[in-house]
Amino acid sequence: MTDQHTPTSHIPGPPVSRWWGCGPELRRDTLGFLLQCQSYGDVVKLPMGRVIELFLRQPDAAMYLLNHPADVKHVLVTNQDNYRKGPVPPVESRIFGQGVLHTEGDTHHAQRRLFLPFFHGNHVTTYSSLITDTARTRVAQWHDGMTIDIGQDMAHLTLSVIWRLLFGEDMRSDTGLIRDSISAGQRLIKLQYDSLLASLIPLWIPIPRHRRFTRGFNLIEKTIIQLIRDRQRSSEHRNDVLSLLLAAQDDDGHPLSEREIRDELMTFLLAGHETTANALTWTWLLLSQDQLVWERLVFELKGVLGDRLPDAADLPRLRYLKMIWDESLRLYPPAWSLHTRLAQGEDRLPSGAMLPLGSWALISPWSLHRNSRWFPDPSRFDPERFSDEATRARPVYAYIPFGAGGRRCLGESFAELEGLLILATIASKVRLRLDDGRTIHPRPGMTLHPKTPIQMTVQRVGLPKTYPVVA
Ligand code: HEM
Repeated sequence: MTDQHTPTSHIPGPPVSRWWGCGPELRRDTLGFLLQCQSYGDVVKLPMGRVIELFLRQPDAAMYLLNHPADVKHVLVTNQDNYRKGPVPPVESRIFGQGVLHTEGDTHHAQRRLFLPFFHGNHVTTYSSLITDTARTRVAQWHDGMTIDIGQDMAHLTLSVIWRLLFGEDMRSDTGLIRDSISAGQRLIKLQYDSLLASLIPLWIPIPRHRRFTRGFNLIEKTIIQLIRDRQRSSEHRNDVLSLLLAAQDDDGHPLSEREIRDELMTFLLAGHETTANALTWTWLLLSQDQLVWERLVFELKGVLGDRLPDAADLPRLRYLKMIWDESLRLYPPAWSLHTRLAQGEDRLPSGAMLPLGSWALISPWSLHRNSRWFPDPSRFDPERFSDEATRARPVYAYIPFGAGGRRCLGESFAELEGLLILATIASKVRLRLDDGRTIHPRPGMTLHPKTPIQMTVQRVGLPKTYPVVA
């Protein structure tokens, strides 16, 4: 990179409103705006505007979008101690509490130490049959010619899986109700991120969106607390996150409080279901639009599995499946933007830019993954980009669907196992066709999801395409 340094005042950026900063552009077309910003260079200054400056009492408050993998590595890994997560809107704190997603320093390290062995690649493979059984049950409900909303189906499927991972049993309440409650919470979080005004209205003021959130949130919270108490009473040990938390002790040998256990369970429930559901939904869409890729995948599945269900031991040989999964996460990373990082001290990035104390580093997998320097013709779906050779040829931090460094996704191995096994189970049984030729655009909420529902028609593999007419 460079030995020269670029002072903050010289970091380029798009023209923005003096009062509202980059807010209006980001709200109007978030994803398009992030891509446009690539043309300003490796580090792009996005002023927050006078209103936020007054609110934060911070002159020249700005976010700095990082477009170069070396700067991304520096902030997330090499000099990660200089950065903390930026502030979160009130509803997000209410939902996640002191769960691992939002803590910092020693507390965060202790939480990761507790979870890392459980979420390690070797341990999560014990969940293989749970995943394939759940996927097989769902696909068995699809009949030939049926139209499904693939996003809904994937969300139900991944919710059932994460529930079993957390609580070791099937969901007692209605899956649809829990899903709707989670969605209401996520919509409110997104709104509070987008609008300072929305985040200033206290949650107890009973406007419709607060009422919807509180109703759904109370339902989930009550269910989780009940499950914690039932397990405490029975003292049964299961291979699930709840048992792990009940057995855990802090540094002084005290067990975790009910509140701490609830915060972690809530965190995993929300962090670990819609992300994977969206990754799967986008993958089905991409596959349905590329017949050659789909056929090559089916060929690989037949060769490795024959007619049986996949399990974790098959995955090293399902190489093309993994390339498809990686390419789908490149084009549509569910975590389209990482949580902003707040600089605790002035920092010089490898690209030469000087980030001042209190500045916000913005890292967007969406934008990084669609940078033509590392991914030529970036909007084209091409699993070959993830052949060993192509992967070796580009910088590691050009591709970060699971983040990096000390806050890298804890559920990465589980998400990958789940994604690959669900894809393999379903693609061995059915072919999914897009009902019409509409272009499906992504929408950036808490995760990157399709703007409109994706309707697909199921075609069972192995059945004749047309049935003989019996006279
Ligand atoms: C395809 C699916 C998934 C994607 C793309 C994804 C992506 C991410 C990313 C990018 C981060 C880092 C955020 C940041 O640095 O600001 C993260 C953190 C996290 N993820 Fe995932 N995730 C996925 C699935 C899961 C699953 C299945 C679980 C749980 C079983 C999970 C649990 C977590 C947790 C607890 C954190 C916080 C880690 C920390 O701050 O120390 N994720 N995820």
